[in-house]
Amino acid sequence: MKAILLKEYGLPHKLEVGEVPKPVPKDEEVLVRIHSASINDWDWGLVRGNPFIIRLLYGLRTPKIRIPGVDISGTIEAAGEEVNSFSIGDEIYCDLSECGFGGFAEYVCVPENMVSKKPGNLRHNEAAALPHAGLLALQGLIHKREMKSGERILINGAGGGVGSLAIQMLKPLQAEVTGVDSGEKLEMMKSLGYDYVIDYKTTDFTETGERYDLILDAKTNRSVFTYARCLKKKGRYVTVGGSMTRLFGIVLVGWILSLFTGKKLSVLALKPNKGLDQLSRLAEKGILKPVIDGPYPFDQIPELIQYFGEGKHKGKVVVKIKDSSM
Ligand SMILES: NC(=O)c1ccc[n+]([C@@H]2O[C@H](COP(=O)([O-])OP(=O)(O)OC[C@H]3O[C@@H](n4cnc5c(N)ncnc54)[C@H](OP(=O)(O)O)[C@@H]3O)[C@@H](O)[C@H]2O)c1
Repeated sequence: MKAILLKEYGLPHKLEVGEVPKPVPKDEEVLVRIHSASINDWDWGLVRGNPFIIRLLYGLRTPKIRIPGVDISGTIEAAGEEVNSFSIGDEIYCDLSECGFGGFAEYVCVPENMVSKKPGNLRHNEAAALPHAGLLALQGLIHKREMKSGERILINGAGGGVGSLAIQMLKPLQAEVTGVDSGEKLEMMKSLGYDYVIDYKTTDFTETGERYDLILDAKTNRSVFTYARCLKKKGRYVTVGGSMTRLFGIVLVGWILSLFTGKKLSVLALKPNKGLDQLSRLAEKGILKPVIDGPYPFDQIPELIQYFGEGKHKGKVVVKIKDSSM
C-alpha cells in the first residue's frame, strides 16, 4: 500500500512517499480503507521531533512511528475474530494518536474500541476533520464543568481546527463569544458565528480590560497571572496547547491561584476518541460542520504539513486518500 514514510526527524520535505505491506488486523482490530485524513499539530511535531517531549515518547534520535497521521475517515474492509460492534463495509472515523498513528496511508489497523460510526450526513472529507480538533474543543469546553448558556467566552487561536469547531458547539447556548486569531482569518470567524473578533497581531486581548467566564486557548503564550487577570470571578481558563514553558507554569501555579482566587486555570489532557459519539450526534443534528481547507491530493502531504506548521491554513487541512472519495 502507499504510505507517507517518516525515516528521520527533520522538516516535512524529508518525508517520503513509499510502498509498505498492507497491515493485517489482530483479533480485536478492524482494517480500515482510509478515504480521507486531516493534518494536526501532532504531525507537525512528530515529523520534526519537536517539542523534545515527542522524542521522549517516540524515539530520541530516530522516530519509532513509521507513518504519521492522526485523524481518518474510511470504510472497514476486514475485522479480527473478536470484533463484534462493527461489520465489513461500515463507514467509520477516529483519532489514531493513542494507537500508533498511521493515518497517511491507504490502510490502517485500529482497535475496535477506538472507532465510531461516521456521521451519516458528513462526507469522508468532512468527517476526517473532526475527531482530534473536535474532541479538544468539546473536552476543553466541558473540562471540570458543564457548559452554561449566556456566558462570555474568549477563544484564543480561534480560526484553527479547535476554534472553528468550538464556536459551533457554543452557538446553541447563546454564549457571547470573542475569537482571537490573525487578521486574514477574521472574516471566516465572523461567518462561523463569533460575536467579536480580535487580530492578535494588532491587539493584545489581555490588555483590553475585558473579563470572561471562560477562556479556551489553543495557543498559550502568556503567564498564568495574565490569564487569571482576564477572568471574571469564578471564571475558568482551559488550555489545550501552546508554549511548553507556559503550560508548565499553568500546571504548577494554576492550582495555587485557584485556591486563592476561586478562578480555575488548567491544562486539558486530551482523551482521544472519548465523546466521539457525542460529536457524531452534533454533526447529525447539523450543529457541527467542519471548516475544511482542501481536500488536497495524497502526494502533497509533506508540503501540507509545512503549510499547517506555518499557520497558513483556515480550519482543518484535509487530504483525500482514496481517489473516488468525497
Ligand atoms: N491537550 C492535548 O492533549 C493536546 C493534544 C494534541 C494537540 N494539542 C494542542 O492543541 C492545539 C491544537 O489547536 P488547533 O488544531 O486549533 O491548531 P491550529 O489549527 O494550528 O490553530 C491555531 C490557530 O492559532 C493561531 N495563532 C497563532 N499564533 C497565535 C497567537 N499568538 N494568538 C492567537 N492565535 C494565534 C493560528 O493562526 P496563525 O498561525 O495564522 O497566526 C491558528 O489559526 C495545539 O496547540 C496542539 O499542540 C493538545
